[in-house]
Amino acid sequence: MDHKAYIADRLPVEGLSKEELAALIVTPPDPAMGDFALPCFKLAKLLKRSPVAIAEELAKGFAADGVIKSAEAQNGYLNFRIDLKSFAEETLSRVEEEQNGYGSSDMGRGKTVCIDYSSVNIAKPFHIGHLSTTVLGASLSRIFKFLGYRAVGINHLGDYGTQFGKLIAAYRHWGDRDEVQRGGIHAVNALYVRFNNEATEEMEQEAREYFRLIESGDREANALFEWFKELTLDYVKTIYDRLHVTFDSYAGERFYTDKMAPVIEELRQKGLLTESRGAQIVDLEPYGMPPCLILRSDGASLYATRDLAAAIYRKQTYDFDKCLYVVAYQQNLHFKQVFKVLELMGKEWAKDLVHVAYGMVSLEEGAMSTRKGQVVWLEDVLTRCVEKAYAVISEKNPALEHKEEVAEKVGVGAVIFGALYNNKIKDIVFSYDKALNFDGETSVYVQYTCARAFSVLSKARALGIEDRGAKIDELCPQEAEVVKAIAAFPEAVKSAAAGYEPSVIARFAVDTAQKFNKFYIDCKIMQAESEELRRMRLRITRATLTVLTNALTLLGIGIPEKM
Ligand code: ARG
Repeated sequence: MDHKAYIADRLPVEGLSKEELAALIVTPPDPAMGDFALPCFKLAKLLKRSPVAIAEELAKGFAADGVIKSAEAQNGYLNFRIDLKSFAEETLSRVEEEQNGYGSSDMGRGKTVCIDYSSVNIAKPFHIGHLSTTVLGASLSRIFKFLGYRAVGINHLGDYGTQFGKLIAAYRHWGDRDEVQRGGIHAVNALYVRFNNEATEEMEQEAREYFRLIESGDREANALFEWFKELTLDYVKTIYDRLHVTFDSYAGERFYTDKMAPVIEELRQKGLLTESRGAQIVDLEPYGMPPCLILRSDGASLYATRDLAAAIYRKQTYDFDKCLYVVAYQQNLHFKQVFKVLELMGKEWAKDLVHVAYGMVSLEEGAMSTRKGQVVWLEDVLTRCVEKAYAVISEKNPALEHKEEVAEKVGVGAVIFGALYNNKIKDIVFSYDKALNFDGETSVYVQYTCARAFSVLSKARALGIEDRGAKIDELCPQEAEVVKAIAAFPEAVKSAAAGYEPSVIARFAVDTAQKFNKFYIDCKIMQAESEELRRMRLRITRATLTVLTNALTLLGIGIPEKM
């Protein structure tokens, strides 16, 4: 049962839907206040009365029952006590029934969300700047699927542009087939960097010619381009595997080569194109924005032109209800312009396009730079974090088996969690030591909590103690807090989806782990005074493990059984 909805149903507040009222109900941080509370100051404006008066009046009229045991007014809050026993029984049974599906829903049935994320650039480094888009997008995709949506993950590859002419020119001058094949993306990128550093005017000229050849469908130029693309993707996919990230489509910018002309034609017909210094633009001045460039004076298309074509193609192909672009806030203006142009074209669905912007990630040691070879490769960050994780777990538990596998889950998990724990728009400074702190607000803390739960449960199993079906008796505050945390998971998942904010789930995981650990330390599960109590505590432990597993899985983080 949804207690908030149950309470809302019984409160005579006019001018607000029951859903809106339920959404105002909170879980007080101090359980001494109550199990649920309605902060009445949120109603003061609507009801034109003081919060204190509202709370008192609502308390007076509230009829307690078997579910809600009392409603008490206190300083403008209406505090509710629920029947914790039946609440716990209900919550735990639901977790036991639904298992890996606990927290899921079918609210998205029949709806499609396209998610454009990671969207790496061919022949360019896969650097730490791609971490957030990759793990945020992948997590959102899992969250939406969990809620019953069809989620379409799209890697909008940066595989179009004059830089590929440069790459071919560089390869023609300095490249060696075997060396590049062996060196993969690093070799390809080195050629590109060398071109930018050393190219003569003559080579620049060649580069333009090669780009033209790619565009005109020249076989040889395209074969080279495809090879560079393949080398990049082979490499990038090894990183995606480590991060447990997948895509449904790799249709990148080049894919839209033949899909831009109709869009330009439509813009022209609708009278939206104007000429400005030889270029074709859409004037956005009335909307307080610089013009959106559609065609350069030499007739070349732009990033925005391809995004217009891509949005239209996605709508036609997937008939999305929402299309998300998980891209850094540096591109705020770009997306505002593209969305505005689509709106001006009369695409009523332009309102369903969402730029899910996020902040910068830098490393503690120093800011990353993306110019001239000075980049921090994401792979190096993962490797380093896994190495450090290996050292940390070896020190903590020298006898641990399969240390490499555990270190991979812990180290990679720490990098993912580092990017997902904070509100996504914040800039973050990643610190290996903080990310691997067993006592911090970290994934390793949550993973360690899971390992602790695994260990208790396997001890119990070894002793033949069965927690399933254990009777729920009076709960002590620590037990009640854990159960309440578990019960809040389905709502956390929904709120993560609504705000495009996986951090809600990351925070949920830390909060639940903290409550579990308090319970674990204070309540002595295996040494409980009675057999019944021990079984009930084991039952709570199992449900905690299930919910933490579901939370970490949505974030893309693995869970070692032992640590
Ligand atoms: N490749 C681009 C970059 O690295 C990101 C592309 C984002 N997606 C899009 N549809 N524009 O900046």
